Amino acid sequence: MCGIVGFVGNTPCSSLLLDGLRRLEYRGYDSAGIAIADDTGQVRICRAEGKLTRLEEAFRAEPFDGTVGLGHTRWATHGRPTESNAHPHRVGRVIVAHNGIIENYLELKEALQRQGRHFSSETDTEVVAHLIDEALATGADSLKEATWRALDRIEGSYALVVMETENPDELLVARHASPMVIAHGDGCAFAASDVPAVLSHTRDFVFLEDGDTALLRADEISIFDADHRPVDRPIKRISWDPISAEKQGYKHFMLKEIYEQPARIVDTLRGRVSVDRGEVHLPELGLDADTVAALDKIVFVACGTSYFAAQIGKYLIEEVARVPVETELASEFRYRNPILSENTLAIAISQSGETADTLAAIREAKERGARTVCICNVIESTIARESDGVLYTHAGPEIGVASTKAFTTQVAAVSMLALLLGRLNGRLESDRAQELIEALREIPAHMETLLQDVDVYERIARQYSQATSFLYLGRGNQFPIAAEGALKLKEISYIHAEGYAAGEMKHGPIALIDRELPVVVLCPKNAVYEKTFSNVEEVKARGGRIIAIGTDGDHRLQNLADVMIPLPDAPDFVQPLLSVVAVQLIAYYIADFKGTDVDQPRNLAKSVTVE
Ligand code: AGP
Repeated sequence: MCGIVGFVGNTPCSSLLLDGLRRLEYRGYDSAGIAIADDTGQVRICRAEGKLTRLEEAFRAEPFDGTVGLGHTRWATHGRPTESNAHPHRVGRVIVAHNGIIENYLELKEALQRQGRHFSSETDTEVVAHLIDEALATGADSLKEATWRALDRIEGSYALVVMETENPDELLVARHASPMVIAHGDGCAFAASDVPAVLSHTRDFVFLEDGDTALLRADEISIFDADHRPVDRPIKRISWDPISAEKQGYKHFMLKEIYEQPARIVDTLRGRVSVDRGEVHLPELGLDADTVAALDKIVFVACGTSYFAAQIGKYLIEEVARVPVETELASEFRYRNPILSENTLAIAISQSGETADTLAAIREAKERGARTVCICNVIESTIARESDGVLYTHAGPEIGVASTKAFTTQVAAVSMLALLLGRLNGRLESDRAQELIEALREIPAHMETLLQDVDVYERIARQYSQATSFLYLGRGNQFPIAAEGALKLKEISYIHAEGYAAGEMKHGPIALIDRELPVVVLCPKNAVYEKTFSNVEEVKARGGRIIAIGTDGDHRLQNLADVMIPLPDAPDFVQPLLSVVAVQLIAYYIADFKGTDVDQPRNLAKSVTVE
């Protein structure tokens, strides 16, 4: 995710662009830049690595201004967060700011290099600038036409704002699978990744549709559909206040990020899975058939929510790849004198890539000769840099301290890893791989279905938020979701909760069961359904109150439970990606009902960079 803002008008725009970027920092903040056509028509660019304040300092040192410009704040997906990789990118007459992922950028880049073009960055975005510049040089009669030619060759997602030095009084905007809004002002026009960027200047927005392009001039906005035909899109008046706009109208960032999960799963899978061929492509990990065949085991090291993603990875990898997997709390692993070899694959899972215990654990693994890989959400973070291979999740910045979209994209990542390992060592047949990849690709739609009906969570909050403790039960790959659900509730509502293996309940925790202890049971139709169902009966027989998370249409479970949250039916392999949404919403609505600080709970930090 990145933040883009653009302006075409009749007043100097540098302050507006910088203010707009500040309001988009929640979309990314590892580097930034602005480009402005000054009153001579020359386009000047200022870029800086690091947070937006670094750009502001650099701009103040050598200020410039004009009435047409664009700005970009970056969340790196391709290329380190450096000044040379910061947007906007300039190639010849063309200046581009981009949010999205160009899946075929490498083959396009190689083709352009063979034509003699030189690149100054590691980004996929620079390819777009070259393609547009090349189209202008080979007969395109306008920036619009040149951009259309370029977009015809691109695969992937993009939200673009483009300037061209020979027509510095216009901006070309294009979007596909990445958000982009435009807006009308008084004698001016705006483009932005999101409403907050310019809400203090206008409330008249047009939400572009996938495939749309728009030409912005001070006195006119022209919109074209995916077939390049002129089209009218409705103007919507936005009444949000600027603060709630950063949350896109959601009450908390955490809730917004829960609802972002379908799109972030799409982004994380994009370009990495092929249903037709039943294959997963993760070249960034450097794993081949020989490496995988030689593996003696895989060891995950992680903390907190990321540790539960690792536990799901264990179930999935052992199921489809039959490689032994251990999961280790990083804080324990680093002091345990672990047994590893050069045939061990150590995998760190970390949203921030800066967690001290996880960093120490992966260093420990490296010192003992293991091959190291990390699954991480922050490009070029310390753990990413120190690992032999990195699989980036594309969750975008996660502002809520309680992890939600980072977790589900981590689970998507370990799911892809399990399939890759199984295909590389021959333990997973192609047709089974196709089924599971298809199941993964259906998850975003299933999540959207789940996210539509939240009344049940409001009822749960009203009925159970006074409890002083909860018990979460799950079996198989639902056990880590029980643990994650308990952690979510603890960290944002401050109610004690415990996640337990359902089969273990009779070995002690059953003594806790009474009407005062709500029991959340993860009981979807899967291989261990009957066993888990009997646990529900054991709780019921002792007067316990049951919040069941089960498969839609399971009336047997519904009749037994006090309240049931229905999940879409899906293969066991992907069910954790659905049941976790239910436990996230249970925690959220209870915490919101209690009035705790959902986005920044007491005592917590987003990244624990100390022991
Ligand atoms: C998640 O809700 C927590 N905030 C916390 O457990 C977190 O998962 C843990 O600190 C690990 O962080 P990391 O993924 O950035 O390494």
